[in-house]
Amino acid sequence: MQRTFTRTLLVGLLASLSFATGAQNTIKVGVIAEFSGPFAAYGQQIEAGMKAYLKQHGDTVAGKKIELITRDTGGPAPEVAKRFAQELITRDKVQFLAGFGLTPNAMAVAPVVTEAKVPMIISNAATSVITTRSPYIARVSMTIPQVSAPMAQWALKNGVKQVYTVVADYGPGIDAETQFTKTFKAGGGEVVGTLRTPLQNPDFSAAIQRVKDAKPQAVFVFLPAGEQGIAFVKGFNERGLAKEGIKLIATGDITDDHVLDAMGDPTLGLITSFHYSAAHESAENATFLKNYAAANDAKVGRANFMAAAGYDTMAAIFEVVRKTNGDVDGDKAMAALKGYKWMSPRGPVMIDPDTRDIVQTVYIRKVEKKDGKLANVEFDKIVDVKDPGK
Ligand code: PHB
Repeated sequence: MQRTFTRTLLVGLLASLSFATGAQNTIKVGVIAEFSGPFAAYGQQIEAGMKAYLKQHGDTVAGKKIELITRDTGGPAPEVAKRFAQELITRDKVQFLAGFGLTPNAMAVAPVVTEAKVPMIISNAATSVITTRSPYIARVSMTIPQVSAPMAQWALKNGVKQVYTVVADYGPGIDAETQFTKTFKAGGGEVVGTLRTPLQNPDFSAAIQRVKDAKPQAVFVFLPAGEQGIAFVKGFNERGLAKEGIKLIATGDITDDHVLDAMGDPTLGLITSFHYSAAHESAENATFLKNYAAANDAKVGRANFMAAAGYDTMAAIFEVVRKTNGDVDGDKAMAALKGYKWMSPRGPVMIDPDTRDIVQTVYIRKVEKKDGKLANVEFDKIVDVKDPGK
């Protein structure tokens, strides 16, 4: 009896010891994103990019194994995102939160990470204000004002003086409209009309007809990447706006590399401003794309800016674990991230030590056929662009 008891105690002790050692040797990353519903590609692309990084670098850094724990918000669902964040922190004891395709999901989690002092790396959500909502947030993707101002500058330089704006009616859309208008007006341009379309289930036919009736020189568009861009470009072509001489200009969300093939040849010639193109020519991008293909099922489709940001999210996490020698806490993590510079698949980037937002090159691109496939081909750029929205 006594012996059995002692043995049970010993086994129990050993089990808890090995559990503790296991926990100490693991860094858990809670990935909250959209893996189902109309925005499912966001979570899938972010995770595919993270896996590409782990494929290339292995899953261990400073003696710690990096473990991803994914949670699906199913779309824009702030309350769900918040609950996942709380559970991941208190129950799963994650040392990082990451992911966040959509702004409302990222915004809802900001107070949770402030309270818990857990570092949160944003892999997409791009409304300017997000990083101001917690000192524990850093962003490796982009901000919408950062990619919108260059489009206004390009339009002005190329003789476009009157623009109609059409944006999705939530954070990033309002940021795009605000920054584009500000830069465009400052350069002598005129905004002749503005329209906002709902984030969920928009029908673009009325908006496109109104733009056509107003006959502006161009329409500037921000829509969240994916299905909406496909629908807008289709409507733009069907209603013959290009034939009326109306140009379509936009942030690169609309010619998302992931859905470019589905949009087809009507995208040829479209000009957009953005921080990442799968057609970017660099050794780092080639390495990223090779590992993306090796780490993921072909079903995940062509890599886009969210996949590149997922890859960079892991680069940032590895840097923190390396710099802290695996002893990660919120304050040490943020100190390690501030001013961190690296060579991303998109080009040179840095986390701004003041804003914790990314500083990067913004490219002007045109959709062309490259090696027989539609691609966003970069032809102009502005280097070291900070978020002008702050
Ligand atoms: C966002 O919700 O912040 C968001 C979503 C899709 C994009 C860009 C920004 O393409």
